[in-house]
Amino acid sequence: MTNSFYVTTPIYYVNGAPHIGHAYTSIAADVVARWKRLDGYEVFFLTGTDEHGQKVEKAALDAGLDPQTFTDGFAEEFRMMAAGLGISNDDFIRTTEPRHKLACAALWNKLVESGDIYLGHYEGWYALRDEAFYAEDELTTNVHGIRVGPSGAPVEWVREPSYFFRLSAWGDRLLAFYEANPDFIAPHAQKREVLSFVKGGLNDLSVSRTSFTWGVEVPNDPAHVMYVWLDALTNYLTAIGYPDAAAPRAHFWPADVHMVGKDIIRFHAVYWPAFLMAAGLPAPKRVSANGWWTVDGEKMSKSIGNVIEPSALIEEFGRDAVRFFLMREMPFGNDGDYSRRGLISRLNVELANDLGNLAQRSLSMIARNCEGRLPPLPEPVTEADRALLEQAAALPGQMRAAIDSQAFHNGLEDAWRVIRAANAYIDHQAPWALKKTDVVRMGAVLRVLADVIRTVATVLQPFMPDSTARMLDQVGVPAEARDIAGLAQPLVEGSILPAPQGIFPRFVEEAA
Ligand code: ME8
Ligand code: MG
Repeated sequence: MTNSFYVTTPIYYVNGAPHIGHAYTSIAADVVARWKRLDGYEVFFLTGTDEHGQKVEKAALDAGLDPQTFTDGFAEEFRMMAAGLGISNDDFIRTTEPRHKLACAALWNKLVESGDIYLGHYEGWYALRDEAFYAEDELTTNVHGIRVGPSGAPVEWVREPSYFFRLSAWGDRLLAFYEANPDFIAPHAQKREVLSFVKGGLNDLSVSRTSFTWGVEVPNDPAHVMYVWLDALTNYLTAIGYPDAAAPRAHFWPADVHMVGKDIIRFHAVYWPAFLMAAGLPAPKRVSANGWWTVDGEKMSKSIGNVIEPSALIEEFGRDAVRFFLMREMPFGNDGDYSRRGLISRLNVELANDLGNLAQRSLSMIARNCEGRLPPLPEPVTEADRALLEQAAALPGQMRAAIDSQAFHNGLEDAWRVIRAANAYIDHQAPWALKKTDVVRMGAVLRVLADVIRTVATVLQPFMPDSTARMLDQVGVPAEARDIAGLAQPLVEGSILPAPQGIFPRFVEEAA
């Protein structure tokens, strides 16, 4: 029996076009999904769009469109972002779909049955931008004299009839849950914040609104729509067929990891497990939050005009380069800065020089000097051969550990340590000189390099699926032997390799 693994991205608000911040979380989740598939898991990978709520309704109104037409347009843009980036999601959920409204109603009814939802009256602060309720003591006044929540989003005073979720009753059980599941929240800084928020005491949460209509209707009370976050979080259940326990994907619950940005950790690490426990369902195993991208040192915003759209980057640099840069540049969990110079420098140094040259130098020598046939392994192996081969053999385990803790940059760092060692090995072994003195040893050196390239390309597939597929073609790895277990199957000595072609061209900035 294979193990199942369920990974998600946030579902994105359809109030604007996708940018590299959205792309980043989706790529990270895709790396996890692709890795787990390669590592033998049955994976379900979900992404989609969050289409209800006051913020989306207002954006539609501002655009002069009815909300459904408006959300249809942006949902398509997010779908295209995923396709453009090579995101390997198994489903794309839209919260306006009938299956989702069914799941929301089912969860709501469960919470009513368990006594966790009651009708009352909300009076307090609401931040439209975050679609979040904040307590008085969480607010500050910004430089413009405006009252803002912890994220800097302006708040307004809201008064309306509302259903409440009895969150105040869940504080101790949440703390016990975090204690029993120390890896539930990553990274540590986010965990600390969540713990202090919960320890500070939880208020009951308003979970319905009556002042607008763009949402999922509350069962038996159509004057209310569900709070958009209760609606949105439920998407993770909808997609696996909730409430049908016999649905083909039901066994994927609980989710293994929700990949999110640090801006939405409270919803995923506090509200969501409380809703689930109240409904008698297991909480997800982990919520892993990424840090924040700025652009050239500034916050990305439409008003500054510095929003970087993934489609433009893909068109100019190719999707593997964009995926690599985003995963390499910013350690997951930390904040980071995007700059065009930074991107080009990584492409030229790490992709073109380090990895591209390693493959091109090794494989073109095999093509020219070994009649394009894979030479036999060294007999006996030298100290240098052994050191490099052992370093490469350790890589899959290192990558597994890195990806399981969402430390993508560490996995890439480990891969590049091997790539740099392989480049140093070529320089020391000098196969071009061996060509004149010892062709058997020359072949052995090239074979060691082919094996190392194969291992490196195999573990890098989740990051750069297109280029690594071409690299594995070039070292003659059959399609069915490209997973992690397949590494145990040696390359076939004497097999004919296709003519090598450069995979990572240098990027030359055109003079303005
Ligand atoms: O919050 N840097 O949707 P959203 C890094 N619909 N990541 C960024 C980013 C940046 N500058 N900007 C956005 C919502 N992100 C809700 C989610 S889930 C049940 C509902 C990423 O469109 C990051 O993952 O505002 C963040 O959490 C997400 O986009 C927010 O997207
Ligand atoms: Mg947001």
